[in-house]
Amino acid sequence: MLRRLSPVQPESFEFTSANLEWARAQMTKYPEGRQQSAVIPLLWRAQEQEGWLPRPAIEYVADMLGMAYIRALEVATFYFMFQLHPVGRIANIQICGTTTCMICGAEQLIAVCREKIAPTPHTLSADGNFSWEEVECLGACSNAPMAQIGKDFYEDLTAEKLAALIDALAAGQLPVPGPQNGRFSSEPLGGPVALAGLKGGEEYNASVARAVRLRDTVKRIDGTEVPILTPWVRRPEQADQTKEGTGGPGPDEPAPGMGRRPDATGVTVQQAAGTSAGRPPSRTEPAGGPTPPPMRGIRNRRPLRHGCRSLVG
Ligand code: FES
Repeated sequence: MLRRLSPVQPESFEFTSANLEWARAQMTKYPEGRQQSAVIPLLWRAQEQEGWLPRPAIEYVADMLGMAYIRALEVATFYFMFQLHPVGRIANIQICGTTTCMICGAEQLIAVCREKIAPTPHTLSADGNFSWEEVECLGACSNAPMAQIGKDFYEDLTAEKLAALIDALAAGQLPVPGPQNGRFSSEPLGGPVALAGLKGGEEYNASVARAVRLRDTVKRIDGTEVPILTPWVRRPEQADQTKEGTGGPGPDEPAPGMGRRPDATGVTVQQAAGTSAGRPPSRTEPAGGPTPPPMRGIRNRRPLRHGCRSLVG
């Protein structure tokens, strides 16, 4: 598929001040001189802010990272997740059309989009509120057919249920994502035959529960909704607190009021007393005793503090 920039472009683009702070913090994740590695998260943030990725945004990100425009354009035009044309103000509905979803009714879902939004994909509805496209497998095959709307998956869909979802979104509601047929997650339709305690008394599976808690499925991101997941970068107010000896947070501690800190994968987790929930306390030395002296010829290396990072943290 040819991916070209939209012929209609805004005059300019710039990050909101909160998103700019977020973007600058992301750049610190990479070694000095390798800041261009942040191109995907920054382009993604620009898209989250605007809804799509206009040319001025691509060039703005390239300027931030000291890249030639063509290098950033190569990235933006290569990855299908970047929308190079305007999408619906409320939502761009992505229907999975790959084998499992196709067998289970994706074509009926696409027919709903053609009827309710626009006859062709990548086209705005008459009121500009919606657009749709067919995408490749989104990895929720056991809950086929499905659609991604904003950040969330809506699964086990039927034509009627998708039509109702679009109506609800148009009315300003935020439907609960996840399976739309009463399933908890991806257990068999007749109920689980193993792991029978799957639900554990919860109303929603973990993904849906998080989506319900965040409530930002189709919301544009201006940078104020989520904590900046780079706790080693101090915000000015944090630096002031520490300087004045008021017990301000250290570089690995959560910012004031966040009550959260990212784990090693950049996933935000609730802060528990003395440690991050879900993670065992860190060891300071191997279980077998103190660290032996380094072998000849092998340098002592600093342990990786932030080993694995998500691209879009
Ligand atoms: S085939 Fe649709 S999610 Fe995999």
